[in-house]
Amino acid sequence: MNDRSTTGEGRLARRMHRGAQFLGSEVAIMAGAMSWVSERNLVSAMSNAGGFGVIACGAMTPELLDAEIAATKALTGKPFGVNLITMHPALSDLIAVCTGHGVGHVVLAGGLPPKGSVEAIKASGAKLICFAPTLALAKKLIRSGVDALVIEGMEAGGHIGPVSTSVLAQEMLPELADQVPVFVAGGIGRGEAIAGYLDMGAAGVQLGTRFVCATESVAHPKFKQAFIRASARDAVASVQLDARLPVIPVRALKNAGGELFTAKQREVAQSLDEGGVAMAEAQLQIEHYWAGALRRAVIDGDVEHGSVMAGQSVGMVDKEEPIAAILAALVREAAAALEKRAA
Ligand SMILES: Cc1cc2nc3c(=O)[nH]c(=O)nc-3n(C[C@H](O)[C@H](O)[C@H](O)COP(=O)(O)O)c2cc1C
Repeated sequence: MNDRSTTGEGRLARRMHRGAQFLGSEVAIMAGAMSWVSERNLVSAMSNAGGFGVIACGAMTPELLDAEIAATKALTGKPFGVNLITMHPALSDLIAVCTGHGVGHVVLAGGLPPKGSVEAIKASGAKLICFAPTLALAKKLIRSGVDALVIEGMEAGGHIGPVSTSVLAQEMLPELADQVPVFVAGGIGRGEAIAGYLDMGAAGVQLGTRFVCATESVAHPKFKQAFIRASARDAVASVQLDARLPVIPVRALKNAGGELFTAKQREVAQSLDEGGVAMAEAQLQIEHYWAGALRRAVIDGDVEHGSVMAGQSVGMVDKEEPIAAILAALVREAAAALEKRAA
């Protein structure tokens, strides 16, 4: 892209410059880590296409992560990141695996970084990216040395917070964009939205849902088919029925598994009322209900009883196509939107 020009492409390159420099990619678009989906094939294809792929470590052991990083490096010489979940019991070992491979970017998800993890990642020379759920926590993360932030709204697929992307962007970008690169995620399906967030000060964006049906994605054909058929209103957040039984909200396509989960909560709450089960056991039953459910849907193709995590932008996914084509469309739409700004 010619970043001196006043064309839409030039404007886009200028607005993405900081984010792309930070990531070491051509465009400041990240494919957010998706457990089971974001493995060697999707990640390398994304980085090879000029974007930034991120491996989802999820519940992998350090040995499996080690193999996944090695396999990804064999498929791309471009930078990519690794997403680690903060509550993983072997977090320090996973960080050590990333350090051993000289991974350039580590993304910490699933809560505030536990003691020592920020220092360990920074000491390896990697750049650290964290999710910032509120402005106050974002400032705290920046003070603790985090290099970049992702702000993710509740339109996103997977585990979500309570606030929409548009509100988070308005609250956070004016305060934070000058301090560290901020990447906006959640509900982005087209380039026009990317242009809008860049105009508001974002360094770049992170998309997940839009990349699930990439040709290179190993998701089961039935998982991809469910995405292609679904509209925005099919991607619903899980609901908590009883204050005593906490449910971490997850956005996924409506299916029989979701209905059975509601029934399960009712059943467990009733057994609590009747004294048939103790509180700890009841909470554990709810927490464990979805264990392995994403794998069941992504890998085994059980889209009725597994968890088909998807964001509201799923309605904009209408076919399977190479990741380079998806990226090119996003860039074309964003550039066209910025071109119009001059008119
Ligand atoms: C199937 C699926 C699995 C996901 N798994 C993870 C994960 O393991 N770790 C994580 O940090 N985010 C995860 N996410 C969130 C994505 O990384 C990304 O931030 C999100 O999809 C962006 O919003 P969008 O879906 O509206 O594009 C997942 C999302 C989806 C759709």
